Amino acid sequence: MAAPGGSGPIGPFPQRVGDDAEAQADYDKIRRRLLWTFPSGLYVIGSRAGDRRNGMTANWVTQVSFEPKLVGVGIEKPALTHELISAGGSFTVCTIAREDRTIVRKFTKPVDVDDAASTLNGFPFHDGVTGAPILDQAPAYVDCEVRQAVEVGNHTFFIGEVVDCGFQGAEDTEVLRMEDTRMSYGG
Ligand SMILES: Cc1cc2nc3c(=O)[nH]c(=O)nc-3n(C[C@H](O)[C@H](O)[C@H](O)COP(=O)(O)O)c2cc1C
Repeated sequence: MAAPGGSGPIGPFPQRVGDDAEAQADYDKIRRRLLWTFPSGLYVIGSRAGDRRNGMTANWVTQVSFEPKLVGVGIEKPALTHELISAGGSFTVCTIAREDRTIVRKFTKPVDVDDAASTLNGFPFHDGVTGAPILDQAPAYVDCEVRQAVEVGNHTFFIGEVVDCGFQGAEDTEVLRMEDTRMSYGG
């Protein structure tokens, strides 16, 4: 995972902060904490290229157009998921039930895939229409074909069109949000 918030105080700094290194570091910390207050959901992103599959915890996920139906995911460049989405041209977004919150800790590094048992780190999955994996226990998923890959600093924002979706659990299942955990990302 990339260093949280970056590798050190990152500019630009407003004029009022000036050139003092300590003031810049303080500003950097406040900006990080502020960005962490932006509400977000927590998801598992499924990706696949050929026979290689992965699942990854992510919170930078949002719908970006309703005609066509486009969903964007911000993926850090060193991630295996980045490689698989780039090569495979698709991804899935799986919502997580609030009561399954411990799952997200299991998807923060490349997963163990058991092809015979169809499991990712022991969690059963099936392939979506794009071929990317969907966790069986996800209350809902969207399956997307990549339409654009936008370079954004140390991430790529993959924009995908929803080519399939479904509820796998009750529609009113409470889904996981960042504030349900003690975790954070970015900032
Ligand atoms: C709470 C949380 C949220 C995360 N959100 C994202 C995200 O939105 N985008 C991203 O690229 N990585 C995110 N990560 C980091 C990835 O889960 C992590 O870097 C993972 O190692 C990369 O996965 P991969 O190499 O298995 O593809 C998040 C991590 C945590 C703990």
